[in-house]
Amino acid sequence: MIENGRESKALKDKVVSLLKSKGNDLTELYEQADHIRKVHMGDEVYIRGIIEFSNICNNDCLYCGIRASNHLVNRYTMTLDEILAVAREMPLRQQTTVVLQSGETPGINDREIGNIIKMIKAETSLAVTVSVGNRPREIYRYWQECGMDRYFLRFETSDPVLFARLHPDCTLYERLDCLYALKELGVQTGSGFMIGLPGETLGTLADNILLCRDLDLDMIGIGPFIPHPDTPLADEKNAYAGEEEMFFKALAVLRLFNPDAHIPATTAFDAVFPGEGRNLALKRGANVFMPNNTPVEYRKDYLLYPGKPCIDESAQECSSCVLSRIESIGRKIGLGPGHSVKMHRGKK
Ligand code: 5AD
Ligand code: FES
Repeated sequence: MIENGRESKALKDKVVSLLKSKGNDLTELYEQADHIRKVHMGDEVYIRGIIEFSNICNNDCLYCGIRASNHLVNRYTMTLDEILAVAREMPLRQQTTVVLQSGETPGINDREIGNIIKMIKAETSLAVTVSVGNRPREIYRYWQECGMDRYFLRFETSDPVLFARLHPDCTLYERLDCLYALKELGVQTGSGFMIGLPGETLGTLADNILLCRDLDLDMIGIGPFIPHPDTPLADEKNAYAGEEEMFFKALAVLRLFNPDAHIPATTAFDAVFPGEGRNLALKRGANVFMPNNTPVEYRKDYLLYPGKPCIDESAQECSSCVLSRIESIGRKIGLGPGHSVKMHRGKK
């Protein structure tokens, strides 16, 4: 933390009070978040197509539907050819970044992931974001040499005790060390958290937002925690159940404190507010949309949480839907790669 103790307490109190906004104050908060988004990031919405290329995972995060102990999941890994076939189509759909996401299986496929990155960079104009969990610095370095532009790894919660309870396989500090390594390598770094994990307080949510700020992230993805029936948290509730407005308040306050980060309108917003969650997110601070490009036959097997939208839609259908959603709220499609704004301003 940059602030001394008293300043940082005052800052946290300020964030908590913003999160409690109601009535006119809340309307003002949303307007301010939208304004800051417009000033710093413009009206372009960047479209990053996500390919969930494998649901095999060694970890047992208590909230996650594809955790290793969930034996009800039908496990798959796409072939290199299948992944490339999807990636080749993406630029035709105005998608300028591919996000390669999978469960966490260190070691087994690190070379293969390198090969996928190299092939995509050789064959397409796409920026490549990888999101496959904790790895040693040398593996991140290797992927960077293969052409990886960005890495996305959520810290999930800034509370180390809550983190330990939810993640039997790693500590918050190991996760943060991965983020520091990525930043130090010069990889555009994304992180974020879930909103409403069981046991969190408004203080935790404020700390999460301030940790994003302190990490000076290029991209920040946040979304509501949704209990999955086949996990140990099946009977838990979101900490803000009954006050779902908090999900948008968190997003708006996140934008105020991270004016020049790319912030996606994440899929989980649509799971909670079907058909409109991501549109509302774009109007309250977000500037990125991430349509699902996973082939339809695999989508139902990548259910991190229930109610995930677009399970039956093809990549083409999602793409058309996204374009019309963006136009319907009067915004433009970002045509370039949508690299980090911070990098361009020479801050990095
Ligand atoms: N509810 C909401 N988000 C979840 N994620 C995993 N499980 C859930 C859940 N039950 C999120 C985590 C992870 C991202 C890929 O998906 O934040 O980092
Ligand atoms: Fe998939 Fe709208 S984004 S159907």
